[in-house]
Amino acid sequence: MRILLLVHSFNSLAQRLFVELAARGHDLSVEFDINDAVSLEADTQFQPDLILAPFLKRAIPERLWRRRTCLVVHPGPPGDRGPSALDWAILKGEATWGVTVLQANAEFDAGPIWASAAFSMRPAAKSSLYRNEITEAAVSAVLKAVERFAKGEGPPQEGSSGAGNWRPHVRPEDRAIDWCVDSTDVVLRKIRSADGVPGVEDELFGRRFRLFDAQEAPHHSGSPGDVIARSGPAVCRATKNGAVWIGALADRESEYPFKRPATQVLADSLAPLPDRPIDSPGGYREIWYEERGDVGYLHFAFYNGAMGTGQCRRLLKAYRQAVERSTRVIVLMGGHDFWSNGIHLNLIEAADSPADESWENINAMDDLAEAIIRTESHLTVAALQGNAGAGGVFLARAADRVWLRRGVVLNPHYKDMGNLYGSEFWTYLLPRFAGRKNAERIVAARLPMGADEAQTLGLADAVLAADRDEFRSAVQSAADSMAKAADFSERLMAKAVRRASDEREKPLSAYREEELARMRLNFFGFDPSYHVARYKFVHKVPKSRTPATIAVHRQVRDDLRTAS
Ligand code: COA
Repeated sequence: MRILLLVHSFNSLAQRLFVELAARGHDLSVEFDINDAVSLEADTQFQPDLILAPFLKRAIPERLWRRRTCLVVHPGPPGDRGPSALDWAILKGEATWGVTVLQANAEFDAGPIWASAAFSMRPAAKSSLYRNEITEAAVSAVLKAVERFAKGEGPPQEGSSGAGNWRPHVRPEDRAIDWCVDSTDVVLRKIRSADGVPGVEDELFGRRFRLFDAQEAPHHSGSPGDVIARSGPAVCRATKNGAVWIGALADRESEYPFKRPATQVLADSLAPLPDRPIDSPGGYREIWYEERGDVGYLHFAFYNGAMGTGQCRRLLKAYRQAVERSTRVIVLMGGHDFWSNGIHLNLIEAADSPADESWENINAMDDLAEAIIRTESHLTVAALQGNAGAGGVFLARAADRVWLRRGVVLNPHYKDMGNLYGSEFWTYLLPRFAGRKNAERIVAARLPMGADEAQTLGLADAVLAADRDEFRSAVQSAADSMAKAADFSERLMAKAVRRASDEREKPLSAYREEELARMRLNFFGFDPSYHVARYKFVHKVPKSRTPATIAVHRQVRDDLRTAS
């Protein structure tokens, strides 16, 4: 079928549905819901069989749903209605939640129900639930609905509609924290219900901020509301019965109104606070290492998958320590939600010299990638529980094996960030693992890629279970078998031989220099595209048109124009 995805933005759920529907042979195009005329024009140009709206912030125009079947994904179970579905579910502590696919009609979220799927809630940030449970449930419900539509069937229970409990937008006062009254559990729920957007509004040291990235701080307590410690990017604030770490703040009044590490935003106010070492048992934790038998697991759960210069350096140190261990296999686990999204664009944007900080950051990434590529004592695996983008994808490919959780979406391209050339040895790794032809295809496509396609193209070596717990146990047993394999030593030897031969053909230092020469131009050169694109990304400047790579209906038109 021809399916038009009508979206507010091409977010993780839209990307995942794009990948799943494309894999099933549907012809897809995407249009950003910028205004009624643009949406109607997209429909006229593409002539879809069906319009799917996985992520919209306003109602579909009447003229559109009257002429075309439009299916809307609502992140709530049947009967739930309103724009803050998941926020309310977290705030109210719902034990189960769901996703409903409804047909758009005159009433918001109240049309006929085509499909739904349920899941158990997890104590996690809204963005994490959205990227995981909501996305999995939405894929299952959308595929059911699309199948019914393709067979010419209507919604399964004729007459059953979403009409039910309308809940309005969550207002700031609905989740305002009362530090003297709220328990740690309530504080965490309030912050998580607004993380990634819009953040809980709160006051610290007499200034207003939005709070993000909350973790329980089990070893701390103090007078409720007091800021009692700092650790890495985070500050620790006491609740009625414990304390929480807050990793990121945004200050609307500041020159840099976007999310930044809390300790950076608060800077001077924090001087007298006790400083707990980051990643220590009493500190805020981003990186941790565990060992099972002959396998070392290195976890790095950086907020939003962004890896700043300091984070890359700490990870490199932890990696070197892992290499010193007498294990046989090192598994790079990344974080629950993201494996890596490359250099930290928010930190770069807020730096005194974004060009210099970009340079430091990419060099720190390259040092890490190089250490992984040059490892001869161990076999290495990148195990992706969550998505990866840009340099994060190529950092993963630096390992000997890349294993993906089924459902992971990769964005193996840099060009959307103002034609950034990219580094992390991608010019070595991509042809080496994917072959020259696939490498060209991957770089040119600039599209999200599903796990199976990544494996076919050589960006990954295996696709394991979809469920996270099952994925982790599958990774463990595969890594164990790798470590115990009778031919382990031969494989290690073969890897060293291959590396030495690759090095003779062209040294890694040459790849690095060539890539960095291009990056130097991106950062310091005449063309400001990267700085402009980064500014827009970090400040979340709304897009004024759909990128040509995904607006297929507009490509056809542009091609015709060129031909005539
Ligand atoms: N630096 C800082 N923040 C980043 C980031 C990065 N490299 N990559 C993602 N983020 C943040 C986003 O701003 C967003 O923040 P929010 O919580 O305030 O909304 C969050 O992570 C999730 O990203 P989002 O873009 O909403 O996720 P997505 O699934 O829709 O798209 C990507 C995933 C990877 C395609 C997209 O995030 C992206 O293009 N990131 C930049 C990659 C890049 O160019 N890196 C630099 C070159 S190596």
